Amino acid sequence: MKPIYLDNGATSFPKAPGLGSAMAQFIEEVGSNINRGTYRSAINTEMVVMETREMLCKLFHFSDPSHVLFTKNITESLNVLLKGYLRPGDHCLVSSMEHNAVMRPLVQLEQQGVTFDRVPCTRQGELILEEMEGMIHPNTKLVVMLHASNVCGTLLPISRVGQLCKKYGIPLVLDSAQTAGLLDVNFEELGLSALAFTGHKGLLGPQGMGGFLVSDSMAQQLIPLIAGGTGSASDQEEMPEFLPDRFEAGTMNLPGIIGLRHALCYLEETGIDTIQQREFALTRRFLEGLSVIPGVRLQGRWSLKGRVPVLSVDFLGQDNAEVAHRLEQEFGILTRVGLHCAPSAHRTLGTFPRGTVRFSIGHANTAQEIDAALLGIQRLARAPQSQMQGPRRQFVGVAQGYGQSMPNNRSHGRPVRNRPL
Ligand code: ALA
Repeated sequence: MKPIYLDNGATSFPKAPGLGSAMAQFIEEVGSNINRGTYRSAINTEMVVMETREMLCKLFHFSDPSHVLFTKNITESLNVLLKGYLRPGDHCLVSSMEHNAVMRPLVQLEQQGVTFDRVPCTRQGELILEEMEGMIHPNTKLVVMLHASNVCGTLLPISRVGQLCKKYGIPLVLDSAQTAGLLDVNFEELGLSALAFTGHKGLLGPQGMGGFLVSDSMAQQLIPLIAGGTGSASDQEEMPEFLPDRFEAGTMNLPGIIGLRHALCYLEETGIDTIQQREFALTRRFLEGLSVIPGVRLQGRWSLKGRVPVLSVDFLGQDNAEVAHRLEQEFGILTRVGLHCAPSAHRTLGTFPRGTVRFSIGHANTAQEIDAALLGIQRLARAPQSQMQGPRRQFVGVAQGYGQSMPNNRSHGRPVRNRPL
């Protein structure tokens, strides 16, 4: 049984074609450090790193490559931004859908006298923006929000949040973990002060590679979390004032940056619009198929609008962990089950502590794989008694009527959609 990878919300797979070879070639044939040696290969590598910063500027509509900083992942980026910016007595606003990459640093900062509040969201994960303005206090110094939920895929109205932040002069930090490489994430238009990204999800790069983009005014207030050698201003024992060096102490993950650059080239050639269209067509197919399966509940929006292809399913009356295990064992479907490092989001959605089975679609998935996942869901779902009576609902593929050829499909009658789309 060939595995069907539907865990792209955790990390994309497969990566950009040729990524492994590009990284291996750097390790085996170049291998130099940057900002230290003056020999040609070191200078060339330095140029490639600068080019990667420029490509990220282009992707995120940002103007200053020196303010594109590399970290090992988005969690580190968010830690640098939160811990470097907030001071005792400061207040921070987040949404109630945040990942622990934001919540855990904030809970640590509480020990140092930082306070925070969560702007509430609906049971579909939609931000209740009207509540936000009343939650801004004179000491509110930062707003941090994810662009789309890693649990249910719901998008937050970031440009409207950005307008509110602008009105009150509060910097806005965006967690783009589930949208970078899929949507057009525009630093200027969204009104951001910083954008944290990871390289290994929608950007199709390697694990261990992330970063953030930061406005100059926010950078001036940011204390570096990590200090050490930068190969610059080496006569001083303080961190340099200038960027990117101020936030990039120690030898960097150069194979990771080479890999990320390779992936960014692939994204540029393919076009994120093309990837988006492909993934949204598959998401529609998944939602259409799911809508006629009794015994499961989608957590999040049924509409394609206002979401990304991260789909959380609750198998009613069952242990979701056992279902995820059976999806792999019996159908080869790879998902992520549980709380997805986001207990606050699951509390908002009403799925804490049991969690959900998350299907997250990526650039390389096919319609056949989505149909196989739907078949697995249908086989494992237990229809509630009320829905078992009378003619069973027919399971109908969007394009092919895949359910009709299932050996155990005892459905008859006309297809009935039991969820709004
Ligand atoms: N945050 C990643 C996920 O949602 C790892 O699975």
